[in-house]
Amino acid sequence: MQIQSSFRRSGGVTSFLFSALFIAFLMPVLVAQPAAPPLPAAQPAPGSAAHPWADKSLTPDRRASLLIKAMTLDEKIALLHGVTPGGLPRTNDDFIFPTVGYVGYIPANRRLGIPALTLADGRAGVGNGAKDVTLLPSPIAAASSWDVALMNGFGTLLGKEEWDKGTNVTLSPSIDVVRVPQWGRTFESYGEDPYFNGRMAVAEITGIQSQGSIADANMYLTMNQESSRFSADSAVDERTLEEIYLQPFEAAVTEAHVGTIMCAYVKTNNVYSCENAQVLQDFLRKQLHFDGWVMSDWGATHSTVDAAKNGLDQEMPYDLFFGAPLKQAVLAGQVSVATINDHVRNVLLPMFQHGLFDKAQPGKWTSNVRTPAHDAFSRKVAEEGTVLLKNVAVLPLAPKTAVAVIGAAGTTKPKAEGGGSSDVVAPYVISPFDGIRKRSAGTVTSADGSDLAAAANAARSAEVAVVFVRTEETEGDDRPDLKLPGNQDALIAAVAAANPKTIVVLDTGGPVLMPWIDQVAGVLQAWYSGQEDGNAIAAILFGDVNPAARLPLTFPRTAQAIPTATPEQWPGVGGHSQYTEKLNVGYRWYDATNTDPLFPFGFGLSYTTFSVANLTVGAPTPQAKVTVHLNVTNTGKRAGAEVVQVYVAHPAANGEPPHQLRAFAKVLLNPGQTKPVSLTLEPRSFQTFDTTTHKWTLQPGTYQILAGTNSRDLPLTSTVTIATAK
Ligand code: BGC
Repeated sequence: MQIQSSFRRSGGVTSFLFSALFIAFLMPVLVAQPAAPPLPAAQPAPGSAAHPWADKSLTPDRRASLLIKAMTLDEKIALLHGVTPGGLPRTNDDFIFPTVGYVGYIPANRRLGIPALTLADGRAGVGNGAKDVTLLPSPIAAASSWDVALMNGFGTLLGKEEWDKGTNVTLSPSIDVVRVPQWGRTFESYGEDPYFNGRMAVAEITGIQSQGSIADANMYLTMNQESSRFSADSAVDERTLEEIYLQPFEAAVTEAHVGTIMCAYVKTNNVYSCENAQVLQDFLRKQLHFDGWVMSDWGATHSTVDAAKNGLDQEMPYDLFFGAPLKQAVLAGQVSVATINDHVRNVLLPMFQHGLFDKAQPGKWTSNVRTPAHDAFSRKVAEEGTVLLKNVAVLPLAPKTAVAVIGAAGTTKPKAEGGGSSDVVAPYVISPFDGIRKRSAGTVTSADGSDLAAAANAARSAEVAVVFVRTEETEGDDRPDLKLPGNQDALIAAVAAANPKTIVVLDTGGPVLMPWIDQVAGVLQAWYSGQEDGNAIAAILFGDVNPAARLPLTFPRTAQAIPTATPEQWPGVGGHSQYTEKLNVGYRWYDATNTDPLFPFGFGLSYTTFSVANLTVGAPTPQAKVTVHLNVTNTGKRAGAEVVQVYVAHPAANGEPPHQLRAFAKVLLNPGQTKPVSLTLEPRSFQTFDTTTHKWTLQPGTYQILAGTNSRDLPLTSTVTIATAK
């Protein structure tokens, strides 16, 4: 159907046609008629006879029940689909993402005092063309900090700016496990480990929801590729779904109590996510007891009756299936009023829980929301998220070092963010050249890299050459391969040949191949690092900040040495992507197949050094919680942070990957300092999903506990015996 292809964001013919259509016909309308702000909800006296659901002393559930009783069928259906902000016409053919105003909108119901729902994107800052907002580093950068407090601050800043823009539903975070390293939305996610993604999701969602706006965990489920994303099918077995892909969502629902979930474009086992009873009902409602609402991704609704019966609560952004067709289906007896009431309750409950009926939201889309503190936090995230991958006695730089800054990403075209719906209008972007020039006390020259000989000359005349390279990752497109695009590999090789003190800075959203790795002295993975790009990288290069980030996904040595190297796996054959690697996602596959990664999951260097020692493992509690203790020491000469990581290896009979991350902690240490670290392994660490009973089951047996500083450096081992299954 035509609308599906219209949702493409960038790249490709469809998007070009859309841009053309947009510029020709709708831009003038949008500019002339900006989106209407949300209508103010009527504010009846609390508990008044007319609006008894306004009584704050009642439970959200009771308030929802009272309100549902008062609603007409039309009023109920109005809550189950979006409308065009600003009242623009809507047909299959003219779908355009509003560039002004909320990307999803449900008008207020004045009769009943139901506030408008105002939805905006926000993976790395308020999206959808909002002005005067902070451009944060991409979520993958924030996740690389391995610092849940920082990620909570990321969510808090985002939630605050969204709320102050009048947004009461923030379409973030994106928590899918990165299965395919070429995935075009890797930069929007947290990486390849389900447990790790769960920790980050809880931290970010809690932050967003602390500011008033309801968070939205997306994209549910198996949204692991952009290739043919409107029709791709993820063919994946139940155990893998449960143990890998569902895990971050489980954490988001059960620990962070996320208010909304966005069902994805793709199919899971041949059924579209937004009408998939297993995905929406069995997993989400029956297993996880999710009590919020499921909205479709933009254009991911494909039916009326199936979607309504199988668990979709709200169609976004329009009413193609859940407007008049849903009313007709109810009148024809195909969808029961009880089902409609369930959907309405799912929408109303988080609205009551998050106080949307009880507090005014003074913010408007045009409000100025950025603050100096937010700018500073954006820089902090970029500094804390930059991973030092290689350093052969070159970093940190002395202040007077003569530096050549090379490459467009370092000079004329800084790469601060990825493409697609996460796009943020940056208030400014500090280029690496400007950041370095500001910080340096020496000569700083530049070359944009378009001419290899000129770049080599610049490198030759400096003490150190810093080459900035980039990928153009975006929603809507997977990368064709893992190579740096264009002539960038040749650029690095030419610069490294001219100056052995060459440092490569990777402004990429995911892993790239590094054929030049042995020729360069240093490598920094800076991701897409937001508006403070140049200041943050300068702080790292000159050692004002000691790098403390770790990779949240594996960097492979070759294109073939990845878990999803066959076309059957990605992008799929005949529309089906076979998840034959099963549980062996990310580092699990490298370990299971004895494949050497270029840089392993959890890896990152520092300007100091650390050691870990004295692992002790406590006796399991009756529920199978296990406490692990160890010591971590800063063995170097400057303060720095190590990320202690604990992995669990199941007994072979359990059929699990070799070892899996189950706990981690970031520890700040002064030179010579030792700190004890205590970590708790949750019962889930010792469970597997039983596909006969369809339940998580604790498996008695002896488990190995491995501790260290990345998935391939786990020098401390011990065991724990789990006696009985509870
Ligand atoms: C994206 C979502 C986004 C939505 C609204 C979709 O194309 O997949 O992540 O929230 O558009 O912009």
